Amino acid sequence: METFAIEGGKPLSGSLRIQGAKNAALPILAAAVLAEGQFYIYDVPYLKDIDVMLEILREIGASAKHVDGCVDLDTSSVSVPVIPEHLMGQMRSSIFLAGPLLARLGEVTISRPGGCDIGERRIDLHLAGLTALGAKIEEAEGYITFRTKQLRGANIFLSFPSVGATENIMMAAVLAKGTTRICNAAREPEIVDLQNFLNAMGARIRGAGTDTIEITGVPRLRTVSYRVIPDRIVTGTFLLAAGVTQGHIELTNTIPEHLTALIEVARSCGVEIKIRHDIMEIKSMSRPRAYDRIITSPYPGFPTDLQAQLMVFLSLAKGTSVIKETIFEGRFKHVNELARMGASIYVDLGSAIIRGGNKLTATHVEATDLRAGAALVLAGLSAEGTTCVSQIHHIDRGYERLELQLQQLGADISRVSI
Ligand code: EPZ
Repeated sequence: METFAIEGGKPLSGSLRIQGAKNAALPILAAAVLAEGQFYIYDVPYLKDIDVMLEILREIGASAKHVDGCVDLDTSSVSVPVIPEHLMGQMRSSIFLAGPLLARLGEVTISRPGGCDIGERRIDLHLAGLTALGAKIEEAEGYITFRTKQLRGANIFLSFPSVGATENIMMAAVLAKGTTRICNAAREPEIVDLQNFLNAMGARIRGAGTDTIEITGVPRLRTVSYRVIPDRIVTGTFLLAAGVTQGHIELTNTIPEHLTALIEVARSCGVEIKIRHDIMEIKSMSRPRAYDRIITSPYPGFPTDLQAQLMVFLSLAKGTSVIKETIFEGRFKHVNELARMGASIYVDLGSAIIRGGNKLTATHVEATDLRAGAALVLAGLSAEGTTCVSQIHHIDRGYERLELQLQQLGADISRVSI
């Protein structure tokens, strides 16, 4: 088992280039099955979730290599309409292969993705959207099979702006006959990146980034080369790492406008943030001020994927802060681990009340999911002494060798096998 050993209490300093966005690369890799041939997709980070996606693509008939950050993908021989259960189980977001495979092959079988550490992770909006486009769905013994002779455009209203459902429907609709309109669509930047990738392939999509996306079906798509946008959640994580260590760092390859909500909160808490093109300079010279109320919400609201990391930052603040989590019902699992480090956090009815001002104490803590794990690393960077974070396979799903990136910023962190 691998753990992170962190000698905390040292301000971060230095410069770091931000990795490509996991949550843009995953749907883009899935969307590549909509055309036959050779793709080159650049700035794809080395993550467990990416490895699983590449394994799934190989299982359905594609060939895929990941060299120097570029995925060299040949989808000519994609022909197997079944996503292996053991791979579905490793990555819930493989559900958004259903749309593109259904559009390409007319059939796809997946195992019903289970819940995960942060909540139930329902897929009803995916199923309703694909049904509206003409898919016939059969469920048996935990497997779901989608079939269609021809997908047809439809008007689809999402009762919740689900990121994955928006992406799945977009990818199924690009080869459908007619026009599809998605109302109450998710507006995340990763959806805009997917639109740009698909339009480069010859699709006709407009409106991504707004709550209404219109897709006009086309007969076929072509292969392309494409570079994935930077990861806004990784950017936010390092911004908060500077905040919890009172450090001074520079992040390059960023898109600051993807982080407006966090930048506003961090500046209100006293963090200095200077922006020049794709460069963010972050300076935190004193303990943060509290922030009275954060509510996680769909983009452009405060992102749920930065909630745990912000909670560590606010547990050091002068005063009391409140964070309300509205996206995932199980996304406070890091609270108990932070309490073991001395944080004073009370959870009630989906809100965490964080009484700041405590120095965190180094100890052994356990990552329960990807972003909770990243938050515990931030806590370890802040706490004097040696913090050990176990179950770091969760962290490897979303951060490319986090310890090496943090070492580049002067952190004393190492990956230890025990
Ligand atoms: C995407 O997950 C991201 N993952 C998540 O990032 C992110 O937290 C989430 O969007 C919200 O921003 C990827 O892009 C690979 P949703 P997704 O569908 O698509 C409910 C990370 O840390 N819902 O917007 O699964 C669902 O239960 C990961 O990188 C339904 O009810 O998120 C949840 O409560 C974690 N029915 C809420 O919507 C559905 O059919 C948000 O889910 C689908 C979702």
